[in-house]
Amino acid sequence: MDIWRIRGGNRLNGACRVQGSKNASLPILAAAILAPKESTLTNVPRLRDIDAALRILRCLGCETDQRGNEVYINASGVTRSVIPHELMLEMRSSVIFMGALLARCGEARLSPPGGCQLGKRPIDLHLKALRRLGAEVVEQGGEIVCRAENLRGTEIVLPFPSVGATENVMLAATAAKGETVLRGAAREPEIVALQDYLNKTGCRVRGAGSGTIYIAERRSADAVRHRVIADRIVAATMACALAAAGGEIELLDVSPRHFSTVLHFLKQAGCDIMCQNRGVRLRSDGKLRAVGEIRTEPYPGFPTDAQPVLTAALLKAKGTTLVRETIFENRFRQVPELRRLGADIRLDGQRAEIRGVERLHGAVLNATDLRGGASMIVAGLSAEGETLVRDEGHIRRGYEALDQRLAELGAEIRLE
Ligand code: UD1
Repeated sequence: MDIWRIRGGNRLNGACRVQGSKNASLPILAAAILAPKESTLTNVPRLRDIDAALRILRCLGCETDQRGNEVYINASGVTRSVIPHELMLEMRSSVIFMGALLARCGEARLSPPGGCQLGKRPIDLHLKALRRLGAEVVEQGGEIVCRAENLRGTEIVLPFPSVGATENVMLAATAAKGETVLRGAAREPEIVALQDYLNKTGCRVRGAGSGTIYIAERRSADAVRHRVIADRIVAATMACALAAAGGEIELLDVSPRHFSTVLHFLKQAGCDIMCQNRGVRLRSDGKLRAVGEIRTEPYPGFPTDAQPVLTAALLKAKGTTLVRETIFENRFRQVPELRRLGADIRLDGQRAEIRGVERLHGAVLNATDLRGGASMIVAGLSAEGETLVRDEGHIRRGYEALDQRLAELGAEIRLE
């Protein structure tokens, strides 16, 4: 059990380099089994989910090596197309191996994925899209079996821009005969990052970042070296921590464009924000204003993953903020915990109303999931006295040395 011990009240000051993106790394790790030659990925964060993905790669027959933030993968020995149940349970994104395995081996066998309990999280869109590419998909005895002798390019329309389904189609379609046109695709920066990596390994993908992605037959390619983009949700978390605690920080090596909706609300709440090309400088006096209404949406809308941390930053903001969650059914699990700090949050289904309070006081909280856990740390930084966040490892699934990063900026925080 991780215990995050925070003494609130310190201002944050200094510069912080933003870690590489978990959600960009994971699909690229799955895509690595398609690369004809070795891949070296840099700026890969050291996280439990990354370890799980590397275990899956080894289990499939890849050779992997991890040194600091650099990961080497040689996929020439991939022989297996089955992902064991224990590994599937470790994280949600293991489902992206489905498209990659289908492309590489013509078969994928796996069980439904684990990950944060944010709601139902079905994978019907993934399966339907893979069937359109010519795969035979059967769900039997708790196992999903996909097979395709010959995948064929076609037009696929996603009724909702699912990030995971978009990634699965991109991966599977690299092995299809003829061009695939994916409409209604997710537009997240992580999708553009996957396209960039795939193209380095000889694939011909274009359109990522827009609603239509074209995937053509691949060519051969040499070994690749690829840098993972910065984690926009970690950047958003640090920005929200600063907003709540007050102070002045500079976030380095991150594109402000990737989390501009979060910056927009922080500005509206009263923070000074100066965007640079590869970073952003933020200043807050810790006295925030409510921001009206926040509504989570697919990118380029406000990200659901940043909703809990922004909510936490606004607990003391003057006035009332309304939060509408439209992506996941279960994204307010942290709310009862935040109330223990003295927060005034009213919940009504997928809607939360935050009435700013004068002060928050330390308490013992239980991390409910990855971003919910991070929101408790953000709130703890602006609470009086000591806050303990008891965590079964959720936060470390997505944040690399979060205690150290915050402590370097002047926060009193310790991970025990
Ligand atoms: C990815 C991110 C996650 C983020 C989410 C939304 C990774 C590893 N994870 O998750 O951090 O919170 O995007 O930005 O990148 N849906 C269906 N059927 C499907 C697929 C999805 O109904 O087949 C629904 C989901 O239940 C959910 C919504 O679509 O309500 C969004 O899901 P999706 O975009 O697929 O999220 P993930 O790829 O799981």
